[in-house]
Amino acid sequence: MKEAKNKFLEQFPQFVNTRIIDELRQTEYERLDRLGHIYLDYTGGGLYADSQIHAHSDLLLKNVFGNPHSSNPTSIIATQLVDQARAYVLEFFNASPDEYVCIFTQNASGALKLIGESYPFSQDSTYLLTFDNHNSVNGIREFAHTRGAHVVYSPITLPDMRLDLEKLKASLFQTPAGTHQLFAYPAQSNFSGVQHPLELIDFAHEKGWDVLLDAAAYVPTNYLDLSKIHPDFISLSFYKIFGYPTGVGALIARHDAMEKLHRPWFAGGTITVASVQGDRYYLHQGAEGYEDGTLNYLSLPAVEFGLRHIAKIGYDPIHTRVTCLTQYLLDELLRLRHSNGAPLVRIYGPANIDMRGGTVTFNFYDPNRHFIDHRRVEARANEHNISLRTGCFCNPGGGEIALGLTSEQLNSCFIHHRWMTADDFRRCIDDTSTGAVRISLGLVTTFEDVYHLIRFACSLTDQNAANI
Ligand SMILES: Cc1ncc(COP(=O)(O)O)c(C=O)c1O
Repeated sequence: MKEAKNKFLEQFPQFVNTRIIDELRQTEYERLDRLGHIYLDYTGGGLYADSQIHAHSDLLLKNVFGNPHSSNPTSIIATQLVDQARAYVLEFFNASPDEYVCIFTQNASGALKLIGESYPFSQDSTYLLTFDNHNSVNGIREFAHTRGAHVVYSPITLPDMRLDLEKLKASLFQTPAGTHQLFAYPAQSNFSGVQHPLELIDFAHEKGWDVLLDAAAYVPTNYLDLSKIHPDFISLSFYKIFGYPTGVGALIARHDAMEKLHRPWFAGGTITVASVQGDRYYLHQGAEGYEDGTLNYLSLPAVEFGLRHIAKIGYDPIHTRVTCLTQYLLDELLRLRHSNGAPLVRIYGPANIDMRGGTVTFNFYDPNRHFIDHRRVEARANEHNISLRTGCFCNPGGGEIALGLTSEQLNSCFIHHRWMTADDFRRCIDDTSTGAVRISLGLVTTFEDVYHLIRFACSLTDQNAANI
């Protein structure tokens, strides 16, 4: 390993500028090595530092917090902390409070659902989205369908799994004036790691579209500066950035775009007044109108601790580190060969680090070029205490394109079955692989983590798929 690391450092001299993270790994994240974990699922969930937990437990142990919906002393202090966290989220993303509002949700999916149910889709509107999207963005199409809107998918192309920009721009050009049109895409793919161009936001705006940017997979290792780009809606989950707390996400929305939204119901916390006999209600203006019931108010101060932890490290070392390790991982995986010269892996997505993040998805193939079932790979990885992810990662569009599944194949399964489990569906698609292996690097990934993964991959060379 020492020799490999020296070579790596020669190839990526900038890696030494990230040594602050090696130090943190030994202090704040020491449990990873103590417990022998090789954690490679940062797109699934980030990891928390010990100090985040200490700061949060100290706060809870030294104070008494009440439900912020009152105005008693314990409520007032909880309200102050919620307001403070809300303001800091905007500050962290360099979003002017004059332009943006931060709505706390349960997670990124909660943010996306708020848009789905509140966006004024009609028969004159289009919901345009990329093939490459998380299911929680795909799911908005059901609200669009219900209200008679057109739903249009914009394709991605192999082998890099980037957007077909010509086709996308052609779709964006077709905007009838005066109608509500929503374009949704991820800043970074949770399937392939591709970073789709942020310039599309201005382009879409010029053509009259509202833009929903799903930033959930982007913000853990890339700085999103909302003074430079101005999407109408941004969805994210905080645990993906700094691990703790789970159960809190945000919809960051532009004030002017919010004026278009219409919530389909009201709930405790969202109204200024509601009457039974009057059969009327007034929704809160701003964030509160979108936060149903009691906020996760004890967790919100921990969001601020998490963000401050990231701000203290700075995105530069995080980004540099993930970039160097991802390029190394890609190079090493692509180098692996069976004795007969056949490649061991096929990567879905770009083979270099230009406009891509630290999520690398691939399948293993045996010497006879038969794919090795991703579930077997995961079972083997588990034996080595390696946490990786397999399947389609809630991104069916990415999976279908990567694995070459046709609409005919998929439709024939949907037409003949009213309901199926994921395994039934897999069998229905036949013996084509319906999933892949995903490695995602993050905040405290070390060279050693990646090296162990590559050793693990090497252990699959010259093995017959049927015997694994
Ligand atoms: C790109 C992207 N969007 C949305 C989500 C949904 O996040 P959550 O499950 O926290 O709601 C994820 C989760 O992996 C994601 O990667």
